[in-house]
Amino acid sequence: MNFPVWEVPIIGGGMLIGLVAIPHVFVAHLAIGGGLFLPLTELMAYQQKDEALLNFLRSTTRTFVLVVLVFGAVTGVGIWWTIALVHPSATSSLLHIFLFVWATEWVAFLVEIVAALVYYYGWDRLAPAVHLRVGFIYFVSAWISLFLINGILTFMLTPGRWLETRSVWDAFFNPSMMPSLFLRTMITLALAGIFILITSSRVKEEALRHRITKWAGLWLMIPAVLMPPALFIYLATLPESARHLALGGPAPVLLVLVTTSIVLSALIFGFSYWGAYRRPQHFSAPLAFLVAILAFLTTGMTEWVREAIRKPYVIYGYMFSNGLTPQQAREWQGQSLVSKAKFTLQPRWTNQDDLGKEVFRLQCSSCHTLSGYNGLLPLIYGWDKEMIQTALDRLHQLRGFMPPFVGSEEEKKALTEWLYKEAATYPGPPIDRQ
Ligand code: HEC
Repeated sequence: MNFPVWEVPIIGGGMLIGLVAIPHVFVAHLAIGGGLFLPLTELMAYQQKDEALLNFLRSTTRTFVLVVLVFGAVTGVGIWWTIALVHPSATSSLLHIFLFVWATEWVAFLVEIVAALVYYYGWDRLAPAVHLRVGFIYFVSAWISLFLINGILTFMLTPGRWLETRSVWDAFFNPSMMPSLFLRTMITLALAGIFILITSSRVKEEALRHRITKWAGLWLMIPAVLMPPALFIYLATLPESARHLALGGPAPVLLVLVTTSIVLSALIFGFSYWGAYRRPQHFSAPLAFLVAILAFLTTGMTEWVREAIRKPYVIYGYMFSNGLTPQQAREWQGQSLVSKAKFTLQPRWTNQDDLGKEVFRLQCSSCHTLSGYNGLLPLIYGWDKEMIQTALDRLHQLRGFMPPFVGSEEEKKALTEWLYKEAATYPGPPIDRQ
């Protein structure tokens, strides 16, 4: 309640974060896997005195650095922009809890960028041994920033002992941190493999292309074998209610997403084994792009599910998605919410409709739009006032992924009236509302 509410029309704030974050996550993971692929393959090429392979790596570095630095950095800043505006309270909490982790991450990121540029400009200018070392420095710093960010992301879903101890170590080394780090590291290898499948499809010389395609296919095989058991371990560390949500529970669409992403992963690995690894001579650019698109969809779906199963919390057990804490929800029961909010649209509430709308903005708009994504009006279409009021009385029981309603009786009534009026304007089949 300490920040202004930023309403994102039609798609809602959560979806906006997803639209910026998913492409970023995709490229950021590629940045790490690619960072291992390049120097490792370069080392191989030196050992085998393979000039053709070195030439391929030199030209791939250019594409790689462009994609990773420009796209990665722009979307990375975009994430800060969106999360700070959509979830200011949660962003503030994460900054407070993890201040030195963020600071370290920014240093790692700086080293990563500098190393990437030196690696790129260093082809043919640096001695091979130095160039290789720069490449590995790039990889290690990129992986360290994954290590750090992963600790913060997993904390949001499984804060673990931090809830009692408030120690940053407990927050960082939380229950799902290790399995998630392992899974994400495997994903970086797979994405590097996919990126190389695309860039190698341009190689003219056939023997070389087959060799690289096969090698890239291997980068997909390793995660294929190691990820399924790690996924089970990861799931086991989640809170019971989050696991319940992921496996269907009250939101079947999530189970559909989970199942689809497993099927798509199987397809990706199928293509890379039978296509790239076993029959590199038949592997083509369109197939490489298809694999990349499947991987992008899978990233989107899995990140989406990971965010969705955290509801009603933004930080599990500590802060609800609308910025209220469970403690505030208990203590402020029956008290006026708008009077607690530091920023409201109007200082005084003479008009009951405005009050209802303001309660919606403060308390519901972090998850609901009115008639766009997760729109409230279609959900309550045809409900009478008693039904809406009952829903508000038992919001957290109605659906486990909503926080309880907080506010005075007057505010609850105003919200009910306002929602009822708004729902009447929602186009839909005629309903006898008596
Ligand atoms: C943490 C996110 C979140 C918050 C905050 C939230 N909701 Fe929801 N709400 C949801 C989700 C997710 C659904 C399920 C939508 C669906 O089934 O399509 C839902 C469903 C509903 C439904 C339909 C329930 C049903 O069983 O049909 C109502 C009514 C509702 N919300 C009202 C509200 C109101 C009013 C507020 C604010 C006081 C609010 N919600 C705040 C996430 C939230």
